[in-house]
Amino acid sequence: MDLKEKIDPDKLPKHIAIIMDGNGRWAKSRGEMRVFGHQNGVESVRQTSTAAAELGVKFLTLYAFSTENWKRPKCEVDALMNLLVLTLNSELGTLMENNIRLRAIGDLTHLQPGCYSQLMETMEKTSNNNRMDLVLALNYSGRWEIAEAARRIAVEVAAGKLDPESINPDTFKEYLETREIPDPELLIRTSGENRVSNFLLWQIAYSELYFSAKLWPDFRKDDLYEAIIDYQNRERRFGMISEQIKQVTDK
Ligand code: IPE
Ligand code: IPE
Ligand code: MG
Repeated sequence: MDLKEKIDPDKLPKHIAIIMDGNGRWAKSRGEMRVFGHQNGVESVRQTSTAAAELGVKFLTLYAFSTENWKRPKCEVDALMNLLVLTLNSELGTLMENNIRLRAIGDLTHLQPGCYSQLMETMEKTSNNNRMDLVLALNYSGRWEIAEAARRIAVEVAAGKLDPESINPDTFKEYLETREIPDPELLIRTSGENRVSNFLLWQIAYSELYFSAKLWPDFRKDDLYEAIIDYQNRERRFGMISEQIKQVTDK
């Protein structure tokens, strides 16, 4: 029985988020420049996106560039931005064939103009696709997103448009980048690092975390299936006790 058949379609996560990490180490272990690792990571993006869409996952969020990644050497940042433009262009066919809509979260207006316009173009061309949303986190960080939400709320309160007493976790969520996207049930990080690196800090409050030792350019469909199977074997309690969860699922 192959791995895919072990997945229970009734317990599929609606939203999977992935911290794609390990491109640099993958390249270094082959005596290549870091950018070679980023280039090879594109195949993993293609495989993971098509596998998720085929399974029936509704949202796949990929951490592609963090706010902190600007601190990398300029040549690497430039190479990543160029690769993004090339990939958005070359992968349009894959997105259309698989009926995937491209979306993005992050401080997009501060991307380089060429990147921004290519991103907008690909999002526009895929905007009527409806099998799965592929959400790219670009110039994104969780703390930026939360601070930005607080700033937007403050502006509305100052203008008298929002009653401060009405602010609670549900209303706060409406000011986040992910306001139209459910929280991820499953967060995967590759490359053996056990940290979240400022990704979706608000949204992962109750996400199941899965750490894979694979470096991102080695990540394939079967690795995604393994993560989902692992997730499906866990009990999510949301603060309750096991007996209460069993009662709910037995009903
Ligand atoms: C992930 O791989 C890609 C980005 C962060 C853009 P890295 O470039 O972080 O690779 P490692 O972690 O240095 O191996
Ligand atoms: C997280 O990876 C960011 C992305 C995958 C885009 P990093 O490689 O930047 O994270 P740290 O620096 O190891 O925590
Ligand atoms: Mg890294």
